[in-house]
Amino acid sequence: MRLLILGAGGHALVVLEALDALGWDVAGVLDDRATAPILGRPVLGPLASLGAHGATRAVVALGDNATRLEWGEAARQAGLALPALVHPAALVSPSARIGDGAQVMARASVGPLAVIGALALVNTAAVVEHECVVEGGAHVAPGAVLCGAVRVGVGALVGAGAVVAPGRRLGAGAVAGAGAAVVRDVAAGAVVAGVPARPLGV
Ligand SMILES: CC(C)(COP(=O)(O)OP(=O)(O)OC[C@H]1O[C@@H](n2cnc3c(N)ncnc32)[C@H](O)[C@@H]1OP(=O)(O)O)[C@@H](O)C(=O)NCCC(=O)NCCS
Repeated sequence: MRLLILGAGGHALVVLEALDALGWDVAGVLDDRATAPILGRPVLGPLASLGAHGATRAVVALGDNATRLEWGEAARQAGLALPALVHPAALVSPSARIGDGAQVMARASVGPLAVIGALALVNTAAVVEHECVVEGGAHVAPGAVLCGAVRVGVGALVGAGAVVAPGRRLGAGAVAGAGAAVVRDVAAGAVVAGVPARPLGV
């Protein structure tokens, strides 16, 4: 079951080590710029060559949410399966649901009845508490904490070390800056930062 990693940037390093920890068979990496091997794995060609390497599965290791969603869709259309990637050192409740192509990295915690959408990313040591919903392609960055029943919209970013208070919602494409304390709902596409979080520049 040959697997391709899409993207050779910093996030791909984390993905590759998670795949190695799981013992999955990685054929190589695709990237539009890099050509040198990453962590000993060859770069086989550009992203658009994803149908040409005899692979059956792919992990989209692109940190940018929109780009991850875009290439996830391209991989699906090329007939590649997008397995959920859960690092063996993550703690995932048996009642949580993890979507296709979602990634849960080392030391992350996903609580009871949480839902992690397709191609969403719960990064290193992030906490997604009980009944949270992280919608498709969203990113909960390293060390961020979603208290219970938070909803993070499609493609939204909760920055590193940010905390989202219980039950709060971030709309699609919203951004909470690194270290923010989100105590109010955040509108779709809005960027907030600070403690308490406010729209940037206000
Ligand atoms: C909030 C954020 C999106 C703003 O990015 P930006 O629009 O490029 O903003 P700038 O860097 O131009 O900064 C604009 C102002 O906001 C302030 N600011 C930026 N990020 C901030 C943050 N996280 N908290 C508080 N203030 C912040 C800057 O100090 C600057 O203030 P100034 O105008 O008084 O000098 C970004 O700084 C951020 O925190 N991104 C999240 C990064 C992250 O965690 N990624 C995950 C990687 S795994």
